[in-house]
Amino acid sequence: MKAKHFLFSTILTVFILHISAQTKPVYLDNSQPIEVRVKDALSKMTLDEKVKLCTAQSKFSSHGVPRLGIPEIWMSDGPHGVRMEILWDSWGHANWTNDSCTAFPALTCLAATWNPKMSTLYGNAVGEEARYRRKDVLLGPGVNIYRTPLNGRNFEYMGEDPYLASKMVVPYIQGVQKNGVAACIKHYVLNDQEKWRGHINVELSDRALYEIYLPAFKAAVTEAGVWTIMGAYNKIRGEFACENNLTLMKILKDEWKFDGCVITDWGGAHNTKLAALNGLDIEMGSWTNGFTSNKAFAYNDYFLARPYFQLLKSGQLPTSNVDEKASRILRLIFRTAMNVNKPYGALANEEHHNADRAVGEEGIVLLQNTAKLLPIVASKYKTIAVIGENATRKLTEGGGSSELKVKREISPLQGLKEKFGAEKVKYSLGYASGAVSYDQVLKSKLNPDSLLKAAVKLASESDIVIFVGGLNKNTQQDSEGDDRRSYALPFGQNELIAELQKANKKVVLVMLSGNAYEMPWIKQATTLVQAWYIGSEAGHAIANVLAGDVNPSGKLPFTFAAKLNDYGAHSFGAIAYPGDSINEVYKEDILVGYRWFDTKKIAPQFPFGFGLSYTTFGYGKVTANKKAMTADGQIIVSFPVKNTGTVKGKEVVQLYINDQKSSELRPEKELKAFQKIELNPGEEKTVTFTVDKSALQFYSDVKKDWTAEAGKFTVLIGTSSRDIKGKVEFELQ
Ligand code: BGC
Repeated sequence: MKAKHFLFSTILTVFILHISAQTKPVYLDNSQPIEVRVKDALSKMTLDEKVKLCTAQSKFSSHGVPRLGIPEIWMSDGPHGVRMEILWDSWGHANWTNDSCTAFPALTCLAATWNPKMSTLYGNAVGEEARYRRKDVLLGPGVNIYRTPLNGRNFEYMGEDPYLASKMVVPYIQGVQKNGVAACIKHYVLNDQEKWRGHINVELSDRALYEIYLPAFKAAVTEAGVWTIMGAYNKIRGEFACENNLTLMKILKDEWKFDGCVITDWGGAHNTKLAALNGLDIEMGSWTNGFTSNKAFAYNDYFLARPYFQLLKSGQLPTSNVDEKASRILRLIFRTAMNVNKPYGALANEEHHNADRAVGEEGIVLLQNTAKLLPIVASKYKTIAVIGENATRKLTEGGGSSELKVKREISPLQGLKEKFGAEKVKYSLGYASGAVSYDQVLKSKLNPDSLLKAAVKLASESDIVIFVGGLNKNTQQDSEGDDRRSYALPFGQNELIAELQKANKKVVLVMLSGNAYEMPWIKQATTLVQAWYIGSEAGHAIANVLAGDVNPSGKLPFTFAAKLNDYGAHSFGAIAYPGDSINEVYKEDILVGYRWFDTKKIAPQFPFGFGLSYTTFGYGKVTANKKAMTADGQIIVSFPVKNTGTVKGKEVVQLYINDQKSSELRPEKELKAFQKIELNPGEEKTVTFTVDKSALQFYSDVKKDWTAEAGKFTVLIGTSSRDIKGKVEFELQ
């Protein structure tokens, strides 16, 4: 009897297992290819369910398919850390107690490392934090091109050069996505200023679009395989970026074969039909975007919600339209929320803080050190004055959507005290910027004269002064939603710096900003360090560099002009920046950043690619393996670099190309390769670069295609865009 029962239950179990294996839907079967699962899920969904996938259900999440157990998508800003939780329906902080993160350096600082390995480290660490916080999409990184130093969001981007930005963005994305979290490359495209970002219509040549503004986005898509992209707020040639046929359909989806999702910037959709037909996949932030009206619980009224459903239902739009969008969204869900193989992530651990510090240390740029005050040998000084609001201000807060709630933030003052001894270091505020406010400039209640006097007094009584100033994340500074009003440093810092320079011969200027600024005091400044926004470990990174425990090796990812009107974007009147409130014409065309300064022979204050070290490097003769290159061939350029100083250091070796003669305008030179190498004192290494046709071509506005013209080219090897150490010529046949 017992045996019979056993046999019966075994058969039953096998039968049930068989049935359930057979009935387990294909879309839930992880062993199946994603495309098969996407098709299967889609075939089981109603029209309503497909449409639902396309819109937000809260401030930072979009719908899943509850009936089928397909999860929602959860998103978070980006790009310098995982933003604190935000309320369901408004921008307010949700005040959770488990969402304190690591703040990583601003992307300008990452770009300034010129080291793609730092992008890998950064991307992986921030990806782990996003994963731990159960996010499916991290809203970053940003690669809008640095066109004007007034752009409030330059700190979130990777500088003025499309090649540098491309090389630096790819490993960041790969690092994030390794964690089963999608990166969201933003803001596609031409959102190069904050002023009037919601409506300004950008006009530019195809050539400028393809050569300058698109390459970093293209690299994100075609090299990194980014899973999502964020449409910008602005218009491009008359159409909003989130509903733009040229940039979304023709370029992104047809030319680049993007297989991921186009997500709006928050409130970036404007028209159901255009959004449907021109490639938008997920609509976020409409009406609750803080810029237009605040219509709560409006999700059903989104452009891609009820109005979209009605167009599909009535046959005015084909169902293939929503099938295409839903397939992309399902693909994203399988890659992220339903990815059973993803790691678990980690939040604000030592490893991540170390990554932040490492990137920060490599990104800090030494701009001037003529009096050899750096590195600071603490034993030489009895008293060290630290002056300036940025020495103590929380710079991980503010700035707009990249604001962070951190577990740790080491201020420069704290870092310097730890490094040089708290008893030696005395602090004075020097200037005050006023309270942090996202949408209002609040004047400080403190008296600027008394602050200045106290600081000057401390400076005159101290052996050395470390001034920590720059911009901050307050509105109209380095902050979202508006641009800077002036190229000058704010809050009376110029006057203060001039007074400090009079009071003490030894003044070290440490500037924290994501943008260039005017330097009226530069002739008197012996010592200048550009230290960006570094995040949680800022104070440690800065102190390590100032003390010489770390030898600086960052290089500027954008040009510091002597004055604002020296920039191309500011040379053509208001229509070129900020526009006439309706249109803006990029009149400088392809001559952005150093391309402009070099071609127009304008001396910058500090050029693109510039940065000093505590050691020196000697460059040997540059040679090429051939004199001529065929159209499908390549040439190899090599030269020795030697550390001629007394400390170990890293050098960023830069390769620029000059086209000697062309039927269309070419910039004086363009960056086409770089390498960061490390050398011990006395050590020499041979650096080798391979140059092929891709480094020689330009986008012809006449042919409407990339072309490389036969003729002579010069390879320029430099330690910056202006300090060329060697050249070699060759001919393209
Ligand atoms: C910003 C985006 C951000 C989004 C969500 C927008 O205002 O432009 O960069 O990801 O808000 O916070």
